Amino acid sequence: MRIAVLGATGTAGSRVVRRLNAENVSVVAVCRANGVDLVTGEGLVDALSGVEAVVDASNAFPPDDSMDWGEALTRATRNVVDACARQRVPRLVFLSILGVEDPAFDEFPYYLAKREQESIVSGSGLDVTVVETTQWYEFATNPAAVTFYDDRIEVQDWLVQPVAADTVADVLARESLSPSGENPVSITGPEKVRLPELARRRSRALGDERPVHTVEPYLPALSGGALLAPEKARTLGPGLEEWLASLR
Ligand SMILES: NC(=O)c1ccc[n+]([C@@H]2O[C@H](COP(=O)([O-])OP(=O)(O)OC[C@H]3O[C@@H](n4cnc5c(N)ncnc54)[C@H](OP(=O)(O)O)[C@@H]3O)[C@@H](O)[C@H]2O)c1
Repeated sequence: MRIAVLGATGTAGSRVVRRLNAENVSVVAVCRANGVDLVTGEGLVDALSGVEAVVDASNAFPPDDSMDWGEALTRATRNVVDACARQRVPRLVFLSILGVEDPAFDEFPYYLAKREQESIVSGSGLDVTVVETTQWYEFATNPAAVTFYDDRIEVQDWLVQPVAADTVADVLARESLSPSGENPVSITGPEKVRLPELARRRSRALGDERPVHTVEPYLPALSGGALLAPEKARTLGPGLEEWLASLR
């Protein structure tokens, strides 16, 4: 089987590549270093030649300041569905964020872009599975909410229910190889935690003693529980302690 992984060098995508390689899948690793730009579409149609499924775990960066994130993400998704159609790729597994449709996020540009991406893939006519997840433990270092300084770490006060990127990759790989038939596939982790606490525990586990300072989130809803998983989400481990132990 031949499967393309978009975002093959990313936090989720690199893990998907490892899992598919272990299953003896022929993996097409899609990233800019391999000559594919999702935003311009350069190299994409050729990269999908002979592919039976695409896992889109990308996070398309704007090429420069003249384009905003939303434009880059939605352009990339339009290019992906067009390329899949042109190469008659039968399946697309698309990674997204759980809860972006909550009206509390109507003013949050990145989540508006995620909504539009989901709507593009769902209306594409392809056989699509959207895998939507809560934040990952690895979000504890994400520049969207965490800033590292020499003498401190500033972390926005998000209330999250994190799942491990390894677990997300397991689900993405499985859905590309043998679809569950569920759509969307909604997954979360077992524990609720405030992001500053998650960042502090991660830092300490790695021997980093810098103080962690809590700062206001970009939107009040981020700290108020709007990111927590709904009942329908599947809860998958590991728990926080086990994840921290895996870092050591
Ligand atoms: N982090 C979380 O907690 C979380 C939770 C739920 C869902 N998600 C979603 O998961 C997805 C992946 O996130 P991530 O944190 O794994 O991403 P990431 O680590 O930032 O990786 C982004 C990937 O996209 C590729 N990429 C960026 N711009 C590109 C372009 N113009 N053309 C081709 N490839 C490009 C990068 O490749 P190169 O730079 O090597 O080209 C890289 O492989 C995102 O859609 C995000 O919204 C994240």
